[in-house]
Amino acid sequence: MLDDAEAAAEAAAVEVAAALTAAADSRGRAAFCLAGGSTPKRLYHRLAEPPWEEEVPWDRVELYWGDERCVPVSHAASNYRMVREALVDRLPVLPAAVRRIPAELGPAAGAAAYRRILRSALGDPPRFDLTLLGLGADGHTASLFPGAPDPDPGRLAVAARAPDEPHDRVSLTLAALNASRRVVFLVTGAAKAPAVAAVLGEERREAPGSGGVDLPARRVRPEEGAVIWVLDRAAAAALPAEAAAR
Ligand code: 6PG
Repeated sequence: MLDDAEAAAEAAAVEVAAALTAAADSRGRAAFCLAGGSTPKRLYHRLAEPPWEEEVPWDRVELYWGDERCVPVSHAASNYRMVREALVDRLPVLPAAVRRIPAELGPAAGAAAYRRILRSALGDPPRFDLTLLGLGADGHTASLFPGAPDPDPGRLAVAARAPDEPHDRVSLTLAALNASRRVVFLVTGAAKAPAVAAVLGEERREAPGSGGVDLPARRVRPEEGAVIWVLDRAAAAALPAEAAAR
């Protein structure tokens, strides 16, 4: 648990840089699946600054997205645009590949296209070396929302929709997320404290707006991978003391 959002972004940068560098060194390349939303912006900015902009072998890192809104890449809600502006355009070298979700094709066509992109680039099932995720106040992650129907097992990317937003979306599924070798959740701010407690707490608590269903973020459990939670004090405030101290 870190003091504030700035410290959490710094701690997450250490985790990200270590995972990407280790993967590139051992496998020659690192597949990095990025989170959208606002929380990771600070982290992406930090990764494009010293020492990480030079230390991480970005020319061996391939970028993927965990979800995307069905908007043009220039739209303010585009996760691709957010990452391009906060990270890619600020790096000294181009990443090995930038494989965005073509969600402007629409939810179903965008999901089908991304399933093809993932299989062609990473094989089947695609295994990300590192997946960065955020957490919604209702316990959603990527664009997997509480109460949404489970997709066909093994389906890698699906059409999705946020309950309170105008845009359709495309999201990776739990099958794709759980094939990751390492997952880092970066969660900050008091608004997320109930969801963090609902996901990490021992008893099955409800996250606000979740309707008491099993929370998608709670189901991110890679078979052969670690899950690291990077929290600031505000987001960890509703956790039992011993859990928050980790
Ligand atoms: C998105 C993200 C989503 C996000 C959470 C938290 O496209 O919005 O994939 O899962 O991580 O909604 O969003 P904030 O970081 O903006 O609170």
